[in-house]
This record gives sequence, C-alpha cells and structure tokens, in this order.
Amino acid sequence: MTRTLITGGLVVTAAEETRADVLIEDGRIAALALPGSQQWTADRVFHADGKYVIPGGVDAHTHMELPFGGTHASDTFETGTRAAAWGGTTTVVDFAVQSRGDSLRAGLDAWHAKAEGNCAVDYAFHMIVSDVNDATLREMPGLLAEGISSFKLFMAYPGVFYSDDGQILRAMQQAGDTGALIMMHAENGPAIDVLVEQALARGETDPRYHGEVRRALLEAEATHRAVQLSRVAGSPLYVVHVSAREALAELAAARDQGLPVFGETCPQYLFLSTDNLAEPGFEGAKYVCSTPLRPKDHQAALWRGLRTDDLQVVSTDHCPFCFKGQKELGLGDFSKIPNGLPGVENRMDLLHQAVVDGHLTRRRWIEIACAAPARMFGLYPRKGTLAPGSDADVVIYDPHATQVLSAATHHMNVDYSAYEGRTVTGRVETVLSRGEVVIDRGEYLGRTGHGAFLRRSTCQYL
Ligand code: URP
Ligand code: ZN
Ligand code: ZN
Repeated sequence: MTRTLITGGLVVTAAEETRADVLIEDGRIAALALPGSQQWTADRVFHADGKYVIPGGVDAHTHMELPFGGTHASDTFETGTRAAAWGGTTTVVDFAVQSRGDSLRAGLDAWHAKAEGNCAVDYAFHMIVSDVNDATLREMPGLLAEGISSFKLFMAYPGVFYSDDGQILRAMQQAGDTGALIMMHAENGPAIDVLVEQALARGETDPRYHGEVRRALLEAEATHRAVQLSRVAGSPLYVVHVSAREALAELAAARDQGLPVFGETCPQYLFLSTDNLAEPGFEGAKYVCSTPLRPKDHQAALWRGLRTDDLQVVSTDHCPFCFKGQKELGLGDFSKIPNGLPGVENRMDLLHQAVVDGHLTRRRWIEIACAAPARMFGLYPRKGTLAPGSDADVVIYDPHATQVLSAATHHMNVDYSAYEGRTVTGRVETVLSRGEVVIDRGEYLGRTGHGAFLRRSTCQYL
C-alpha cells in the first residue's frame, strides 16, 4: 500500500475551506485531519504550508483531435491531457463524434481508439449526435449503459453537425425517457449562414466579421427554442459555451421557472472580447470560435451568472488550431477559419485570477471548475472534491506565485496562446492523479497511458 501525506495546506472544496492534513492511500483520499493532529506515516510527504490543496480540475468540454473545417484540432489525447495536467486539470470529458451516415457506435469506438493508452489523466466522453434518425435514437440507451450519459446536438453548422427542430425534439424525448442529458450548441445556424453569405458578398472577409454575423440575438433565439423544445420533450437541457448576455437571460428565466436547465460558459468569454477578433491583420483568427467572443460589456453578466448559479460550470471548449497552416485556411474568408481556441491548460489559473480580482470566492472557483462539472456529468464524488473515498486527484496550488501565460511556455500543442503576455497570480505546484504524481514544481512526472476511461452515471442535479 502506497501512502502519501499532504500537510499544512488550506483544503478548499466547493463546500468548505479548512486547514487540514490529507492522507492518500492507494490512489484514494483516505482521511483528512486537523494539521498535526494525527501521527500518520507515509512513503511520500508534500508540505503545503501557505498553499491551497484543491481537487483536480474537471474540464467537461474538450475536443482533442476534432475534425473541423478540413483539418483537425492540433492536440492529441496525449498532448492535450498532459497540458491539462500542467494546468491542474485531472479529468477531461471529450466529445466523441458521430459522422453523418455512421452509427454512434462507430464514432464512440473511434474516440476510444484515439484516447486509450494515450492519456496522462482520466477521461470520459460525451457523444456528438450529427445524424438523428431511428437507428441513432435506438443506440442512445446502450451508450448510456457504457457511461456515455450526455449527448451534444447542434442548432448551428448546417450540413455538418446541424440537427433541425424535429430531430432535436426526438433526441430530447429519448433523453427524457432514459435519463440522459442533452447538451446544446445554441445558435441559429441557417440564419447565420445567410448573414455569412451577405457579409462575404459585401467583401467583409476579416476575422472580426465572424463575431458580427453570429449575432447575440441568434444565440438567444436558439437558447429560447432549445428551452421550449426541452419542456415539450420533458428532458433536461445543458447549454454549452454561453457567451451572450441575452442567451444567459433566457437560461435565467427558465431556471426561475424551476426548469431543469443548466448552462456553461468558458474562460474566453470571461477574459476576451470582440476587441481580440478585431486585432490587426489576420491576428483576429486566433480568437475565432463559436459561439463567438462578444463585446466586453457582456462579461459582467457572465460573471454575475456564475455568482448567482444561473451558470453552473466553466469548461474550456478546448479546440486548438495552429495559427500557421490551420487558422490560415481562412485567409480572405473568415467563414473558413477553423472554429476553436486552446485553453485546457489555462482554465484553473484564469479562474483563480477571477478570485484575485473579486469576481468569485475561492469556494465558487472550486465549485464551477471541479465539483459542479463532476456532478453535472455523473462523476461526483469520485471526482471534483476531496473527501474520504474520492480519487486522489489533488492539486497543491500556490496562490501567491505569478506567471505570464505564453505559447513559449505552455504545453498545449498549438503555436499561439489566446492569453499571450497576460500575467496571472496563482500557479499549480503539484498535481496528483489517483495518487500518482504527474506534475511537481515545474517537472512533468506523469505517464502516457496512466489516464483511465471513466464510465459516468447520469446527471446528479436531477
Ligand atoms: O468554436 C468551437 N466552439 N469549436 C468547437 C466545436 C464546438 O462547437 O464546440
Ligand atoms: Zn459547440
Ligand atoms: Zn465544443
């Protein structure tokens, strides 16, 4: 039996903050006790005085190797999960993709093949359903039994991932019957496509037009429609990557009515804006993602939504494309820029910066980044907290260290940082995944293949 002891830190969970020693046995949290109150012996001791001891982050929205716009997201499961660990995230929930004309099974098998034996930290899958039909609907309960308890549908990207309202309703009915959670990309894709065509015809080809045609009202309209469809179907709903204050207002109104509607936002919408999309030359391409970045004045509403629990989760939507050769596919036509931003390594630090800046409390930081995503997607209390019996996914976090975010020092397989040059206060010092040391004081000590597939139960907020 391997025993690890973490002494003297401030243990922060979503529920409480306590000075405590943490004992780990065989990959699990064995006990917590007042500092020095127990004479525990251990094979390995970490001294965490002056540091936080927090649960490993749970990033419930990543896209390793996603095929998009004629290319692939540049992080593999190997590079992406290693980068996650560097940033204090010890669980990722990635999206397996059903290709049109194929089964869910084929898509899921393909994602298992990409991930198995390659991950530095634990991983699970949601399933993107791009082809809702009788056969796929019949497959959903089987996937649920295999731990794939959430399914993403798209109201955007006609011809690629898009589902029409009838297909959405049928998938929601199936989810309502089986306990699965429908995740929604809520943007009115057909209307956006008209605006894209008109913009290009006017010669508006720069990256900033990506933000202009993907109007906030079209995010809000789709969010409203998704809520109403989920009511008709009697299914819960989780809206991904909420960026517009008008869309958030739709979620808040639904929640005020007591509906089982949930929402996620991402660091890029909290820290970046249309100013970045408008950077000179083609630089704005680095910030092209969907839903798009919004004008800065949307950020206050998102922060408020996180405080009031109208938004429950912050995930990254990590979907990196290199500037050279990938984002450049959209030179002269913004609609050909692959959509997505890197961020899996930066989320815990950026949200800690939000604590420093006064947007969030420490406990709320841990709730939106660890506990709530674990609960939302059926992983709690194995993941997302530090309690006896939980996996020993533990981060020793130095809240006083400063660092400058940069592509020169990050570990994501992408040639730029969306946060280049930004100084943040707080830094990961040590990361344990199921009791094994993955990161310690600037050194990667992890192992490709250590990360295990997690079968998830259903949403624990229902
Ligand atoms: O721009 C984004 N978000 N790319 C990834 C695909 C998605 O819609 O989540
Ligand atoms: Zn999406
Ligand atoms: Zn996504």
